[in-house]
Amino acid sequence: MRSHYCGEMNESLVGEEVSLCGWVHRRRDHGGVIFLDTRDREGIAQVVFDPDTPESFAIAEQVRNEFVIRISGKVRPRPAGTENPEMATGKVEVLGKELEILNRSESVPIPVDEYVEVGEDIRLHYRYIDLRRPEMAERMRFRSRLARVVREFLDGRGFLEIETPLLTRATPEGARDYLVPSRTHPNRFFALPQSPQLFKQILMVSGMDRYYQIARCFRDEDLRADRQPEFTQIDVEMSFVEEEQVMDSMEALIRHVLAETMDIELEPFPRISHAEALRRYGSDKPDLRVGLELVDIAELMRNVDFKVFRDPASREDCRVAALRVPGGDRLSRKQIDDYTDFVRKRGAGGLAWIKVADPALGREGLQSPIVKFMDDDTISGLLAATGAAAGDIIFFGADRIATVNESLGALRLKVAEDLELVEDGWAPLWVVDFPMFETAADGSLTPLHHPFTAPSCSADELRANPLGALSRAYDMVLNGVELGGGSIRISRPDLQQAVFDLLGIGPEEAERKFGFLLAALRYGCPPHGGIAFGFDRLAMLLCGADSIRDVIAFPKTQSASCPLTAAPGEVSAAQLRELHIRPRQLQN
Ligand code: AMO
Ligand code: AMP
Repeated sequence: MRSHYCGEMNESLVGEEVSLCGWVHRRRDHGGVIFLDTRDREGIAQVVFDPDTPESFAIAEQVRNEFVIRISGKVRPRPAGTENPEMATGKVEVLGKELEILNRSESVPIPVDEYVEVGEDIRLHYRYIDLRRPEMAERMRFRSRLARVVREFLDGRGFLEIETPLLTRATPEGARDYLVPSRTHPNRFFALPQSPQLFKQILMVSGMDRYYQIARCFRDEDLRADRQPEFTQIDVEMSFVEEEQVMDSMEALIRHVLAETMDIELEPFPRISHAEALRRYGSDKPDLRVGLELVDIAELMRNVDFKVFRDPASREDCRVAALRVPGGDRLSRKQIDDYTDFVRKRGAGGLAWIKVADPALGREGLQSPIVKFMDDDTISGLLAATGAAAGDIIFFGADRIATVNESLGALRLKVAEDLELVEDGWAPLWVVDFPMFETAADGSLTPLHHPFTAPSCSADELRANPLGALSRAYDMVLNGVELGGGSIRISRPDLQQAVFDLLGIGPEEAERKFGFLLAALRYGCPPHGGIAFGFDRLAMLLCGADSIRDVIAFPKTQSASCPLTAAPGEVSAAQLRELHIRPRQLQN
């Protein structure tokens, strides 16, 4: 139907007859001539109709925004002075000859021809129109290109793309499962995979050696800007490797992706241990574009007169930390109160602070509700430990370790954003040396990654000191977002069972849930390891989007529903009967 995309119109086509198809982006009637800005996926072309072609001119008078049209005409330079340097096609226009309306459109609920803030519910309900907006169309194009670049890189390095089932058994990645009832097996359920973890490990047992998949994963968990119930991973597994090879090749992948898609050359990624990340940044996914760091000051606070600091200072499970913010002394009382609310929401008891006018003056050079509790030595020790300089504010957290990390870690980012202390650019890093386990609220052990992650010690050492054991896991972080995570896996059944035991999964339960994996480990499993990247998160970061919903064609809302299709939907009683399901009467 067409000879070119609208977005392809340029000076090299001047004098040629073209035919274009697309949507009326905007119609301007300049009395005597009608301009139809015609849009398709690739861009917008200006088409002019004048009364010399009366039939087409009459049709042009009828068309409205978002009508679907086909035009033919001749490309010509725009008259001098009317070029539009903002438009890729802005030097030329098409003098329209024929005009055909292929379809009409009602007036659209989301303006396409100008940028208007529209509520997300409307955007998702009419996603087909939202996706016409140039910035959204560009994101879809970018995402497609990103996938292509990833595939080309991995194909070039001998990775095989292999699909794994979506109807399967539960894969524990820490979220709830989406279940699918089986019609042919009453009272049995498939689970949609939280990740292809077990299948990719089994593919290593099969000798596939290097596997990847741009894989759809499903997790029923609390949603946020960077989490969706169904999302996409770049999922990778490799045999006969140790941490270094996986990390090297995956760092190369990400560097290649940024170079190809954004023309950005990254330095080698720094590595820091999980413990150091928490100590310095209060986070296991630190944003290194922010220079602010937490400093431990418990030593100094053991004997102060201020109970809020003194008690936690001598407790093993607590932390007393300071966060120095250059230029922070201009914060108003109201801003400090807002930050206090901010940390309280994250569990902190309060937010003590010291404004530093002149550190050389000691106590006299400070303004603070808490220095009255400290002697001069403590004050000078504190100023030295934090490196305080004139114009700073120092914030303090004194609480259980996790509370201090969470509250001051979040405050670090918030203050940096408010005071414009976030540097431009890209700050990738690896976080390594994770603990194997953490303790859940009920005192039981839970894995920091998944239960198939290898410890960096023997099974005996692991049993003797599970909370002290480190794993062979690594996470990649980019600008404060956890982009990917992986590990060297357990490749021996006895070690796997030792981990299950510690997690309270006895041999019987292990056999029932993961017997197929344990069996595979007994038949010649190579040492192996891998990683998975959040593909949506990568696309979000590279597009500068605020949410992964903006780089997914049809995302779910915060409450895990789809306004476009109204999914999840009701099903008929007959369907439920076939699935052996009797709905419970809901009260309300
Ligand atoms: P993990 O659970 O860390 O590891 O997931 C890997 C990466 O997937 C992304 N991600 C998500 N993205 C959007 N929405 C979600 N709900 C969501 N959950 C996770 C993150 C994360 O870093 N099988 C292991 C990987 C491995 O060990 O090889 C796994 O799935 O960017
Ligand atoms: P108070 O003596 O309770 O008024 O507290 C004095 C200062 O310490 C106030 O600025 C409080 O916000 C702050 N504060 C209280 N609890 C904590 C805490 N756990 N960590 C840091 N600062 C706190």
